[in-house]
Order: sequence, then C-alpha cells, then structure tokens
Amino acid sequence: MENYKPVMSFGEDVAETYDDIVQRGEETATVAFLEQLARGGAALELAIGTGRIALPLSARGIRVDGIDFSAAMVAELRSKPGGDQISVTEGDFVDVAVPGTYRLIYVVFNTLFNLLTQDEQVRCFENAANHLTDDGSFVVEAYVPAFLHRLSNDQYVEAEAIRVDEVRLDVLRHEMATQMIEESHVSLSPAGVRLNPLVQRYAWPGELDLMARIAGLRLKERWAGWNREPFTSTSGNCVSVYGR
Ligand SMILES: C[S@@+](CC[C@H](N)C(=O)[O-])C[C@H]1O[C@@H](n2cnc3c(N)ncnc32)[C@H](O)[C@@H]1O
Repeated sequence: MENYKPVMSFGEDVAETYDDIVQRGEETATVAFLEQLARGGAALELAIGTGRIALPLSARGIRVDGIDFSAAMVAELRSKPGGDQISVTEGDFVDVAVPGTYRLIYVVFNTLFNLLTQDEQVRCFENAANHLTDDGSFVVEAYVPAFLHRLSNDQYVEAEAIRVDEVRLDVLRHEMATQMIEESHVSLSPAGVRLNPLVQRYAWPGELDLMARIAGLRLKERWAGWNREPFTSTSGNCVSVYGR
C-alpha cells in the first residue's frame, strides 16, 4: 500500500473507538492463561495498546510493563482505572528497548504480523529472548493464514455493519508471494468516508517456530485458543508458547 506507515493504523480515531469495536470476549481466558505463565513474575506486553489485556492482568497482581508506538492508544490506557500503574515505553516493539528481564513477554491479537518484514519479525523474537528470564515464556497469538489461501481471487469485501446511518466494510487483498495483506476498514455515513488502513506480513506457525529457534527458543506449547483448545488442521487461531 503506497505511502502506508504502520503508525497510521492506530491514530486518535482508532484509539477512541478501539475498545467499543474490539470485543473478542476471550479476555478473561487470555488473562488467566498469561497469569499462570507469569507465576507471580513480571510481564511485558509488546504492543500494549489500550490495555485490553494488560490492565486486567495487572489487576491480578502481576507487574505488567508495555511498549507501544501510538501515543493515542497509550492515552486511552492511561485514562482507565489502573492505567497509571503501568510503565509504558513509547517506541517500536521490534527493539524491545526496555531494561531488565521478564518471566513473561507476550504479543497478542496478530500484532507480530504488524512488523512488515521477516527480518523485523526475527529481530523481535531475538530481542524478546534477550529480555526473558531463563525460565521465562514468550507467547505469540496470531491467526493461521489458511483462510487467506482459500479466498476467491485473493480478496474480499465484507459487510461489517449495515445501519440506517452507516455502512462499514472490510476490504482486503492478499498476496501469497510476499505473505502480505492489505486491508482497510471503510465507514460510509452522512459524515463522510473514513478509512482505516492496515498492512500485515503474516507467517504460518512453522515459520514462527523457526524464528524462535533462530532466537534460541523452542516451542513449548501450542493451542488453538486461550482455553487450551487443541490445535488442529482446522484451527483458525494459534497461541504459541516459547521458552529456552
Ligand atoms: C490491534 S492493537 C492490539 C493492542 C493490544 N495488544 C490488544 O490486544 O488489545 C495493536 C497495537 O499495536 C501497536 N503497534 C503496532 N505495531 C507496532 C510497532 N511496530 N511498535 C509498537 N507498537 C506497535 C499499535 O499502536 C496498537 O496499539
């Protein structure tokens, strides 16, 4: 997508409505899963956003730090109860530019794929590994790209909402050769047209495992969801736990 920069996907418009639109309903299970892995130790969320996961995890008594490059998303986090308790480093999470080590580092909701090259994704694994305690876990949650390979003509337009005063469309194009998707959420209403572009470079679980190996980590567990659903050939989501 010409002239696209990742930070464009997380401006003030998106930050303001993020928590209304993103309701996965798995937050309790996600937090319980992560709390178990942290075992009372400190946790670091790469791309912490509005604190959808970090705030309830912190409320369970885990120290959670975060990294994010969107001042608008972090401002939303800060405005919520407990948001002032969390140390957030503003910057690109690929660098994991924080002091110290963590029992748990995690990047959820497909956000690893927001790093747009394989090189950046490998660097992220390496930098995360450098900040893990010896018994620490690095958790990556990401979709399984099988559905992209089944698209007709490598694209779709989906009606996300049809109301009397607004139509919202999700428009996506897939390029298998580069493992890239280009997407935009388009809102059409009397107020005008609003676009929310997003580009991702996806990876299959096996490629993630090799990135972990390059970083000196091994796959310890793989699940299809936060309730430890078995990972099978039909799983659309993948929760991978890496450690030394
Ligand atoms: C889809 S939101 C997920 C937020 C949160 N982890 C959650 O699960 O609700 C993606 C977040 O990643 C951040 N982000 C994306 N790419 C980033 C990068 N390279 N460095 C730092 N933050 C990034 C965005 O600013 C945004 O807050």
